[in-house]
Amino acid sequence: MSIKVVFADSEVEAQWTEGSILEFAEKNGVMPDFGCRGGACGSCETRLLDGDVTYFEEPAYEPEQGHVLLCCSRPKEGIEQLKIDA
Ligand code: FES
Repeated sequence: MSIKVVFADSEVEAQWTEGSILEFAEKNGVMPDFGCRGGACGSCETRLLDGDVTYFEEPAYEPEQGHVLLCCSRPKEGIEQLKIDA
């Protein structure tokens, strides 16, 4: 099933394909902040507005409640929409 990804702040919507959410954002012209691109620094921490994510590996940096790291995650299997504040 396809997953709609909504970058609310940038007003961009796209159907999920592959990679990390950070890579997917960049492919779609959205440029979130980033640093390590490996789940360690927290620079890509973004507020989650709808849906959920799955981490490729448990990240070293723990995001705040209701926030996610974009560099090391993808939309969770089975959701219809992922909406983030990017
Ligand atoms: S860019 Fe460092 S945790 Fe995502």
